[in-house]
Amino acid sequence: MGGQLSPIDKAKFVAAKQASEYVTSGMKVGLGTGSTAAWLVQCLGEMVREEGLKIKGVPTSNRTAKLARDVGIDVIALDEAKWLDITIDGTDEYDDELTLIKGGGGAHLREKIVATASDRMIVIADASKKVDTLGAFPLPLEVVPFGLPITQNLIAETLTGMDVLGNEVVQRMQGDEPFVTDEGNFILDLHLKRIGNPRQLSLVINQIPGVVENGLFIDICDVVIVGHADGTVTTRDITNDTSDVVRFEVLDDENIFSDMAD
Ligand code: 5RP
Repeated sequence: MGGQLSPIDKAKFVAAKQASEYVTSGMKVGLGTGSTAAWLVQCLGEMVREEGLKIKGVPTSNRTAKLARDVGIDVIALDEAKWLDITIDGTDEYDDELTLIKGGGGAHLREKIVATASDRMIVIADASKKVDTLGAFPLPLEVVPFGLPITQNLIAETLTGMDVLGNEVVQRMQGDEPFVTDEGNFILDLHLKRIGNPRQLSLVINQIPGVVENGLFIDICDVVIVGHADGTVTTRDITNDTSDVVRFEVLDDENIFSDMAD
């Protein structure tokens, strides 16, 4: 990352930094996936190495597991942890109710399982992730490879009865090959433009047999921490109904986590 942080990385870093203050020794911590969550893992790794923080991390993807180990976090499986004190993750969109669209990194299935097995879920984001109405970001569905065309047809049929604006269903690719999740499944991205009733959509979509899980997180997230490029961080806790603003000084030439190479 060579010295100077981009404005977006500054925003992600300060959000992650603020979220790391929720983590104390003895906690079992769900570690999210994606570029914002990677900053969090770096911050926690630094606390482990330099401040003696003692935590067990439960990663939501193979990528995050590798990063967590690399920075010195003790990684355990969810089965071993059984229940977590906190999960901190990024998001693709969030609204006023802290309903989220996740899965831009293809990890929403494990992310949802881990967040649901936690006392609290904190989302860290830059300000671009806030929306009035969910759906501009395509909604990811994790689907089993078996019977994929049937599943796609059923999804298309189901969408006709839903309060959405778009109906394009696109299989996620990685180069010329289908994107494959850590669970060995495929991802379908639903280009819905606007999701009028996330709760109804989530329930109905998950009824389709080939669908494993959708990327809507409803009644799961408790706190959103939003970072800004000037170092300001706003925290909104919907369980305690509190809001808070702090400001971090991030020097332009500060070389934070230079090992987070591009
Ligand atoms: C991965 C996710 C990520 O949290 C989401 O895509 C946000 O990623 P980023 O922090 O890189 O913007 O849901 O499945």
